[in-house]
Amino acid sequence: MNFENILVETRGKVGLITLNRPKALNALSDGLFDDVGLALDAFEADEAIGCIVITGSEKAFAAGADISGMKDYGYMDAYKANFITRNWDRVARCRKPLIAAVSGFALGGGCELAMMCDMIFAADSAKFGQPEIKLGILPGGGGTQRLPRAMGKGKAMDMCLTARMIDAVEAERCGLVARIMPTATLLEETIVVAAGIAEFSLPVLMMIKESVNRSYESGLQEGLLFERRSFHAAFGINDRREGMAAFLEKRKPDFTNS
Ligand code: CAA
Repeated sequence: MNFENILVETRGKVGLITLNRPKALNALSDGLFDDVGLALDAFEADEAIGCIVITGSEKAFAAGADISGMKDYGYMDAYKANFITRNWDRVARCRKPLIAAVSGFALGGGCELAMMCDMIFAADSAKFGQPEIKLGILPGGGGTQRLPRAMGKGKAMDMCLTARMIDAVEAERCGLVARIMPTATLLEETIVVAAGIAEFSLPVLMMIKESVNRSYESGLQEGLLFERRSFHAAFGINDRREGMAAFLEKRKPDFTNS
């Protein structure tokens, strides 16, 4: 797959998307998100792919929405083009596990893109921020909604109202980041984790992802009901039978994604 704004490759059962607009610190243009959407469509359609990683460069995961691309927008331009909803949200609708491997700047839409993924692995050099206020605008890719859910209202307000950047240690401490890794080995270590995930049963991974997202997006009772229904449904999956049989027979399971 050849794209203008991203590089796409597979590493075994892992699909890798590398944001590739180095001159603009991977600023997130409309075209870039069209490319990401097409790559995700292809990885989701490919039975051999069990986990997807999105990464950037060592200096920048992404420095936010492309400011030059939107500087002349009026309200009607943004509204009629369905800006952000049209293509950015494809990332949040991905059904397969999705890891953001973040090195350097993850600002504005870059931080929001990372939060659309299921978890963020950060290099020790990573810096997260929502600096939109400095441009006279607010976060529009989910920052005011996903940040408070990840780190609580006070920290989210601190980031959005002051434009302060936080480093990887603070981001992990407040729950935004799942793991911190050395910058030099971030991608390879992330791919090892993704490859481990991809060895599990894909339908069960998708059920777990749906269920955790339901917790994130709804109340406890609704979430528990959703989990219980998915848990019951998992008894109809061949891989559930295989996983339990393999444990009892002291052997490695042979999952068939069925
Ligand atoms: N959009 C367009 N171009 C960008 C960009 C962006 N978000 N961020 C960086 N660039 C470009 C710069 O214009 C510069 O281009 P030129 O070489 O042609 O001048 C190039 O990338 C390198 O950037 P800097 O020279 O600024 O690099 P630096 O190391 O001095 O600073 C930085 C790095 C702190 C990340 C700085 O570039 C910066 O502050 N970028 C903007 C961050 C920002 O405001 N992001 C929010 C965007 S709005 C948004 O995302 C809305 C939303 O919620 C959806």
